[in-house]
Amino acid sequence: MTPDRSTPYSVVLGIGGHLPAECVTNAELATRVDTSDEWIQQRTGITRRYIAGPDETTSVLATAAARKALAAADRSPSDIDLVIVATSTPDYTFPAVATQVQAALGITAGAAFDLQAVCSGFVFAVATADKFLRSGSHRCALVIGAETFSRLVDWEDRTTCVLFGDGAGAMVLEARVQPEDARPRGVLTSHLRSDGRHRDKLHTTGGPSSTQSIGHVHMEGKDVFRHAVGMVEDVVRAAFEATGTGPADLDWFVPHQANRRIIDASATKLGIPPEKVVTTVQLHANTSAASIPLALAEAVGDGRIAAGHLVMIEAMGGGFTWGSALIRW
Ligand code: UT7
Repeated sequence: MTPDRSTPYSVVLGIGGHLPAECVTNAELATRVDTSDEWIQQRTGITRRYIAGPDETTSVLATAAARKALAAADRSPSDIDLVIVATSTPDYTFPAVATQVQAALGITAGAAFDLQAVCSGFVFAVATADKFLRSGSHRCALVIGAETFSRLVDWEDRTTCVLFGDGAGAMVLEARVQPEDARPRGVLTSHLRSDGRHRDKLHTTGGPSSTQSIGHVHMEGKDVFRHAVGMVEDVVRAAFEATGTGPADLDWFVPHQANRRIIDASATKLGIPPEKVVTTVQLHANTSAASIPLALAEAVGDGRIAAGHLVMIEAMGGGFTWGSALIRW
């Protein structure tokens, strides 16, 4: 839904990304499993990924990204009254990564919780924070996507282990009522969808209540690919429709970074030219819920995304879950 002008909008004040220290190239991976740089690049666009060390847990990566986002936003931890972390790879089954980030930053006000929508997690978290901020219940949110998928993949399974990487990205959103006569800034609309019938196509083989272990990622890649493009199109068109905008109005399209071929096919189907697409899958691989905020941090950092720009984020992932949010930066 598009907010009316008497309610506040959730305005982006800052963004930050953080990657683990160790970078692993395709060539290095090819020494561990039966794969090649050529196969990985041709099928996915990926050239490298970052792998977290033992001390670089999801909450450590999330906290580092959050510090950078707060600095970019010119806000201090005491300004934050809502922390939402999108992750499928928490340090512990509980407590939530969000409460660990809260403690690490010295935040004591408001609420902190994790949200699990796998690769769509960041879009779900932005939409959730937006609803809290628009309702007036909270004022300033840290929205984080953070993952250590390297802990969840089977390093003997070449069909999945080459695809994923670790990292975190964070965004500061603040509630602001905006003047009637100005073009509104902030989250303009968001659209979330889920369909649990697709569970088997992308899931982990374990969990606390079933196997008392975390399991490994299992993906029927071709099937996921086939669904992804249509699902992305569905939610992006919904965002255009809700705001009376179209591809020509967009400054930047920042999709979930799973596979270059999915990104290219989605942009082509939607009529979004390649020069408006932010692509970082080649640099970071698929970092699940962290991929969009990492891509945003990259494009803000190098000056591509600037104040006033219209930015579409979208993702699709396990569940299936999929969603979009249109943001005036
Ligand atoms: O982020 C959540 C959403 N996830 C996605 O969006 C991922 C969606 N799916 C994909 O990105 C692609 O399906 C993959 C990249 C996972 C796979 O690409 P594909 O073009 O669908 O390849 P495929 O699975 O059909 O495999 C083709 C061949 C197979 O060999 P045969 O059966 O043709 O002899 C695989 O065994 O490539 C083989 N293969 C590999 N070869 C070298 C699979 N993985 C590898 C590998 N290295 N790492």
